[in-house]
Amino acid sequence: MTAPSTAQIALIALLRQICGPNHVLTHQDPATDLSPWEQDWRKRVKGLALAVVRPGNTQEVAAVVKACAATGTPIVPQGGNTGLVVGGVPDGSGKQIVLSMTRMNAVRAIDKDNLTITVDAGCVLQNLQTAAENAGFLFPLSLGAEGSCTIGGNLGTNAGGTQVVRYGNTRDLCLGLEVVTAQGDIWHGLSGLRKDNTGYDLRNLMIGSEGTLGIITAATLKLYPQPAAQLTAWAAVPTLQAAVQLLGLAHQRLGPGLTGFEVMNQFALGLVDKHYPQLRVPLWQATPWCVLLENSDSENEQHARSQFEALLEAAMEQACVTDAVVAENLAQARGLWHVRESITLAQAAEGLNIKHDISIPVSRIPAFVLETDALLAREVPGVRMVDFGHLGDGNLHYNVQAPEGVDGHAFLREFEDKVNTLVFDQVAKFEGSISAEHGVGELKVGKLPLYKDPTALAMMRAVKKALDPQNLMNPGRVLG
Ligand code: FAD
Ligand code: MLT
Ligand code: ZN
Repeated sequence: MTAPSTAQIALIALLRQICGPNHVLTHQDPATDLSPWEQDWRKRVKGLALAVVRPGNTQEVAAVVKACAATGTPIVPQGGNTGLVVGGVPDGSGKQIVLSMTRMNAVRAIDKDNLTITVDAGCVLQNLQTAAENAGFLFPLSLGAEGSCTIGGNLGTNAGGTQVVRYGNTRDLCLGLEVVTAQGDIWHGLSGLRKDNTGYDLRNLMIGSEGTLGIITAATLKLYPQPAAQLTAWAAVPTLQAAVQLLGLAHQRLGPGLTGFEVMNQFALGLVDKHYPQLRVPLWQATPWCVLLENSDSENEQHARSQFEALLEAAMEQACVTDAVVAENLAQARGLWHVRESITLAQAAEGLNIKHDISIPVSRIPAFVLETDALLAREVPGVRMVDFGHLGDGNLHYNVQAPEGVDGHAFLREFEDKVNTLVFDQVAKFEGSISAEHGVGELKVGKLPLYKDPTALAMMRAVKKALDPQNLMNPGRVLG
């Protein structure tokens, strides 16, 4: 590690004046461990930060950005650091600052009549859900990392999660943003309006920009009524095609009550069983696929339950479900969701792996999997597929684990690029997207130009150049 230059020392002193001495952390303090901010969640990359800067309010963020802009210092915005594509950690140069948003975690306002909540960007998703619940409402965004990811990160990545089939992605839940631009100006866009046609949609430009266009400091988000009842079922299905058939039936029979539809293959559930033996994983040993369904918003629990039972009966008659359980109570429902949400951790415990968060039209997913599985098995003998995800949204986590006994590092070195190319070529053939929810980050930067429409890419580059001409906002991510 090289010692900071005179200019960098002066910058750090200025940042300490802005945020307070305790909120600018550097490697020069031997008692400070910066690894939690430098290491990505999947342990794919460990960067080296010039400093970790933790502003306490929007004015401080603006002052930090101005100071960095004046010295040409790149900024990597970071929320909960749960991103899966290496987008929120610094590179290895020792020249970038990490702008950690977690001190900015307040709920600013709830407007019950307008059905909105306004929060700081560093607010942890679970705390936001709880604040909504305490006010008598639902904030429906839900994902396995909700105990540590922040709404700023969710907006930065346009996170999906398990309720998209009914409520949409994070983008669909956001009405207004407050943003610090690359020049250190504050855009006061915290509108709670559901209609506003006064020009370009800057809010949607910022959402999903992965920190490359500016820093989101606060957001105004939609609230929904809490469902009168919520029931969860777990079904064994013989094929992925049968799961798609079940999805069609669920749409027909439950209508807007269908709030979750997740699919999991046998190997994924086997990993949960192996690494979390304390969890009870239902039905998995006797079937290649399981589906987790959620039915909400019905008049009452009895109504929801009879709807669910009728759906499962019809599905069994049509042979698209072979066995099923409906949770008897909230604890059982949480247990089923916990199994689903544990797949990511179980897969990480099994070793390094190649992740794909692809989307394909739902109708074509079974053919995609059959064909791509066969190609992969030919190219990488013994490869193990961890397939799961949000089938209701046409979003599959089509993940590739090293063959049994093969070291994850060696596997990635030899096969990562080949496997990515094979899978992404297939995604293109099936008219899908190479990222449905995790984003591009650093991991897919090299692949994006190969699969994104060239005109769209040129427009994206023009936007980046206009808004961040010095290329200081999370450089190297999304566009490279
Ligand atoms: P970070 O990881 O800190 O950052 C992510 C990106 O957003 C980076 O590019 C960063 O620079 C940028 N960013 C962060 N904060 C800001 C800000 N304030 N302004 C501008 N840019 C910012 N993702 C899904 O979509 N669906 C899932 O179901 C899902 N499940 C997950 C389950 C587990 C167990 C884990 C570990 C991850 C999961 N993820 C999922 C991925 C991850 O949780 C999401 O991408 C999440 O939105 C990241 O939030 P974060 O606060 O941790 O952001
Ligand atoms: C999920 O759906 O659980 C996530 O997107 C995380 C993952 O892909 O591992
Ligand atoms: Zn997901």
